[in-house]
Amino acid sequence: ALAGLAGRNLILVGLMGAGKTAIGKLVANTLNLPYIDTDQEIETAARMTVSELFTRYGEPEFRALETRVFERILAEGPAVVSTGGGAFINPVNRELIARSGLSMWLKADLETLWDRVKRRQTRPLLKTENPKQTLKELMDKRYPVYAEAELTVWSRNVRKETVMRDVLKALA
Ligand code: S3P
Repeated sequence: ALAGLAGRNLILVGLMGAGKTAIGKLVANTLNLPYIDTDQEIETAARMTVSELFTRYGEPEFRALETRVFERILAEGPAVVSTGGGAFINPVNRELIARSGLSMWLKADLETLWDRVKRRQTRPLLKTENPKQTLKELMDKRYPVYAEAELTVWSRNVRKETVMRDVLKALA
């Protein structure tokens, strides 16, 4: 892998719709590293979807499971790891990331995020009266925290290959 990574995990953070999954897969492929999706690992471990977890057990239970699964994933690296949008907000997870890899914020504006999430109605946090407004509120709350990531790459509404080039540049 690239110099900046030096055998460590690359952990993609950012809001829902930032492209963590799509970009993560491409980057992993290019760097010849495994790609791990935290939410998918959680779903496998819990044998239910993230949405079901939220409904049946509530967000605090989901967050506890998220940290347990996340810790295991990071220990198994090196890999390209995409996180759920809330993972980096938890200081425990930020500490785990700092110890095992490089954090990269995929940053996007509201229109880009909304454009991507509105097509799929799977996000429990966006099951509100005005999901676009909710997304905006999450941006306001979380962007100062995502800004603590070691690297930031803009994920605009362009071809994902373009974003991937910027990711590789940031790692060089
Ligand atoms: C969440 C984002 C989701 C998922 C869960 C909570 C969040 O992941 O982990 O619904 O708190 O922003 P994606 O960012 O992959 O949609």
